[in-house]
Amino acid sequence: MPENPPESPYVPGEEPGLSRKQFITAVGVGALAVPAVVGATANAASAPPGNELLACTPGRTTVAQTEGPYFKPNSPQRDDLTAGTSGVRLVVTGHVFDRACRPLARVLMDFWQADTMGAYDNTGYRLRGHLYTGADGSYRLTTVVPGLYPGRTRHIHVKLQAPGQQRILTTQLYFPGEPRNSTDTIYDPSLLMNVRTVGSGREGTFDFVLDVAGTGTPTPTPTPTPTSTGGGDTWRAGTFYAAGAQVTYGGATYRCLQAHTSAVGWEPPNVPALWQRL
Ligand SMILES: [Fe+2]
Repeated sequence: MPENPPESPYVPGEEPGLSRKQFITAVGVGALAVPAVVGATANAASAPPGNELLACTPGRTTVAQTEGPYFKPNSPQRDDLTAGTSGVRLVVTGHVFDRACRPLARVLMDFWQADTMGAYDNTGYRLRGHLYTGADGSYRLTTVVPGLYPGRTRHIHVKLQAPGQQRILTTQLYFPGEPRNSTDTIYDPSLLMNVRTVGSGREGTFDFVLDVAGTGTPTPTPTPTPTSTGGGDTWRAGTFYAAGAQVTYGGATYRCLQAHTSAVGWEPPNVPALWQRL
């Protein structure tokens, strides 16, 4: 199992590297103008866990969080991530709204998570995949309950991008009742799913609210994947590096093994999953 480096705490207002990354763009229709309050799932951005009266509060958008070191672009399109893995089956459902609480159709949702042993697949796409919300803004993901790894509580990563929007929401979903929720400095209770046990599996719900007006113009083709920066330069925090990019650090040269946005604590010698010394 690869060693998992720490994930930097979320810095409010910052989504590192997003302006350059533009990793996803949905194709299709824009938002639907329909009534604001939808469904019975609790929106953690607007209501505490257990409060299922409102699914969305206008203007209260879902909190952003660090993407961590293990995001990989170009995940396969699928709503079932269980292929090639084992564990407790988990089905996550909910809706995606714009900031006026109108359901957003064709929102691209890119999920990635650790397996039941707490390891990420950094060479392939196991437990990685993207899907699109339906015409009513709903989504449904089938996966397994992620395992724990050092320094983190149980979580699932996700990026969301509405059609025609450059802005990407990067965040994480959490599980109630986890002992590590109280010690994980990245954990945010507003991102708790409602989770219940159904048979031998789990069902989670969470509604997202994106900071978009829902009036974006759909783009007909996917945005190109990120391009590398920093080729041959000295490693710097807060910089997007594509796989294959080379940097120098501490007098040595390193090659990037997977695309990521660098952060303090992820210096090349510290994260062998991200950097190979040449
Ligand atoms: Fe993680």
